[in-house]
Amino acid sequence: MTSIDRYAVFGHPIKHSKSPRIHQIFAEQTGQILEYSAQDVPAGHFSEAAAQFFAGGGKGLNCTVPLKELAWAYVDVKTERARTAKAVNTLALQADGSLLGDNTDGIGLVTDLTVNHGIALAGSRILILGAGGASRGIITPILGQSPATIAIANRTIAKAIQLAAEFQGKGSIEGCGFDDLKSKQFDLIINATSSSLSGQLPPLPDGLLAKNGVCYDLAYSNETTVFVSWGLEIQAQKSLDGLGMLVEQAAEAFFIWRGIRPKTRPVIELLNSERKM
Ligand code: ATR
Repeated sequence: MTSIDRYAVFGHPIKHSKSPRIHQIFAEQTGQILEYSAQDVPAGHFSEAAAQFFAGGGKGLNCTVPLKELAWAYVDVKTERARTAKAVNTLALQADGSLLGDNTDGIGLVTDLTVNHGIALAGSRILILGAGGASRGIITPILGQSPATIAIANRTIAKAIQLAAEFQGKGSIEGCGFDDLKSKQFDLIINATSSSLSGQLPPLPDGLLAKNGVCYDLAYSNETTVFVSWGLEIQAQKSLDGLGMLVEQAAEAFFIWRGIRPKTRPVIELLNSERKM
C-alpha cells in the first residue's frame, strides 16, 4: 500500500497560516499528490512534535515563529544559507534518513524582488532595518546578488554591529544606529524590524531613499503596513510588503521536497486579490 506523502507547517500561533493553502495550490498545479497540514506547536513541544511527525512517515516540514532557531538546532545537516541564518524554515527527510535543514526566506525575498518586480540588486545600496532573526535570515542570499553595500541599522546599535561582523569578508556590510543614517542614501530599504507589526516605524531621516528607490516590508498584512505607507509617502518607485516573499519561500521549499518548481505568479495574484476584497 502506498501512502500519500505528508508535509506540515509547525508554529505558534498557526491558525492564520497561508502555507497549507499555498502548498495545496502548488500540488494541484504541478500534479503532485501530497498532503500539507498546519500544526500548532509551542516552542516547548517542538522536538517531540517533529520526532513524532517524521516517525509517522512525514517527509518535510516548514517551521515558523517561534520555532526556526529550534529547527536549526534539531536538523542533522544544514545548507550554507541556513547555517548563516541560524534559523531553519524548511526540513526535508533525505534518502539516507537524515534531516536536511534549509532556510528559504532570503531566497524568497530575492526572487520576489528580482524576478517578480524586476529590481536588480547587483551594485545597489541596500539598507536593512533591524538586526534580529529576520535580518540575519536574508543576508546571505542578498550578498549572493553582489550589492554595492549593505547597511544594517538597529535601535540597539551593538546588535547591528555584531550581525554585520558575522558577514565580514563576504561583501561590504556595516552595522549602525538610526542616527547614523542622516545624509546617507539607499536604493532599497528593507524593513526587518518587528515594529511594523505593532504599527510603529523606526525613526528614519528625510532623503534616505534614492530617486526610484524601493521599499520592502518583510511583514505582510491585509491592511497596508506603516512601513509600506511610509514608502508610498516618500514616493518610492515601489513600496511592497512580504506577501510575494511568503509565496516564493514556499515555492523554494516545494522545490526542495518535490524537485519541481511551481508557478508563483498566479498564487500571489490570487492571495493579493483576496486581501483587497
Ligand atoms: P525577528 O526574528 O522578527 O527579527 P527579533 O529577533 O525579536 O525578531 O528582532 C526584532 C527586531 O525589531 C530587532 O532588531 C528590534 O530592535 P532591537 O534589537 O533594538 O530590540 C526591532 N524592533 C522591534 N520594535 C522596534 C521599534 N519599535 N522600533 C525600532 N526597532 C524595533
